[in-house]
Amino acid sequence: MSELCPKRLLGKVVVVTGAARGQGAAEADLLTREGARVIATDVEPVGGCRPLDVTDERAWAALAAELREAYGRVDGLVNNAGITWRARVGDVRPADLAQVHAVNVTGPLLGIQHLAPLMPPGSSIVNVGSSAALTGHYPVAYTTSKWALRGLSKTAALELGPRGIRVNTIHPGYIETEMTASAAPAFREANVRETPLGRTGTVDEVAPLVAFLLSDESSFVTGAEIPVDGGLTAHGGVKSVSDALRAEAGG
Ligand code: NAI
Repeated sequence: MSELCPKRLLGKVVVVTGAARGQGAAEADLLTREGARVIATDVEPVGGCRPLDVTDERAWAALAAELREAYGRVDGLVNNAGITWRARVGDVRPADLAQVHAVNVTGPLLGIQHLAPLMPPGSSIVNVGSSAALTGHYPVAYTTSKWALRGLSKTAALELGPRGIRVNTIHPGYIETEMTASAAPAFREANVRETPLGRTGTVDEVAPLVAFLLSDESSFVTGAEIPVDGGLTAHGGVKSVSDALRAEAGG
């Protein structure tokens, strides 16, 4: 990186959850290149990640104690870890819904509860939502968990604002990772059709938004929700109508 482009996160201590692969790995990599001291964590301790199951309250307490000892503070938290479950509303079992909520909602809550006490003014928390959090996406356990995460983000932004801690949510659309690779091809095709940019996104198109939200460049941005979805959620479902009429008119 040239001197014209100084490292935006120099000296910041940042925890990323679910960093073993996919978006979390790309975020940990970019944040490191931006100068942050990244603590990459995952339930699967691969790729140099520190083991952390986000549903495990004692593990969060142990991490907080370690960070207090090592750095005396934490400047950033990326609540990225998440799981999906593709049962529809008529079929989903309560236990599966509870498991998805444990990872996608309770995980971020525990992260905030344990790390916010170590955060000085100017710190930043980024919660990874989903386009599912803005729509009636069919996998109901996942969709309800991401809507709940929006509520958590808003509440935390209100609660932590007076301490100078910002809390924002990003909403990725269809991003090419192992999570989406496990879906049916029809899911990918339908997403591309509904996306104004006409393609899927990459992890390297999400990570820069996270870096911005952790940096001091976004110092007056909190409680915000930012889609990074190629326009998927911007058209409110009328893209197919527009496309159909354009096709009928012959272009
Ligand atoms: P991924 O499945 O490739 O990676 C998720 C990571 O989270 C994995 O490394 C996994 O081991 C970890 N993880 C799972 N359960 C955990 C737990 N209990 N504790 C700690 N780590 C755990 O998924 P991807 O796509 O990178 O997803 C990252 C985030 O982005 C998730 O919150 C997901 O819901 C969200 N998202 C993904 C989209 C996509 O199209 N890929 C779209 C919208 C949101």
